[in-house]
Amino acid sequence: MVTVSVCVGSSCHLKGAYELIRLCEETIAETGMRDRVNLKGTFCLGKCSEEGVTLNIDGEIITGVSPDNFMDVFKKNVLRKVRKE
Ligand code: FES
Repeated sequence: MVTVSVCVGSSCHLKGAYELIRLCEETIAETGMRDRVNLKGTFCLGKCSEEGVTLNIDGEIITGVSPDNFMDVFKKNVLRKVRKE
């Protein structure tokens, strides 16, 4: 199980955290991984000054996430991990 935590602190909220949660939900459903990926929201991850939204994927902090690069981030950091399990 891979855990994806999307920061929903005020800064990330303004930078589109909820849009990313929607994209995550859609992608998890489309790839049939509901039982392999645990998606949740989290409080500020301390990277507010970075561009984009911050994610924590299995303890790894990833900054600069936006709808434009979301699929790349998801493939590299979530799909790859799920396939290794
Ligand atoms: S609000 Fe997301 S890192 Fe601070």
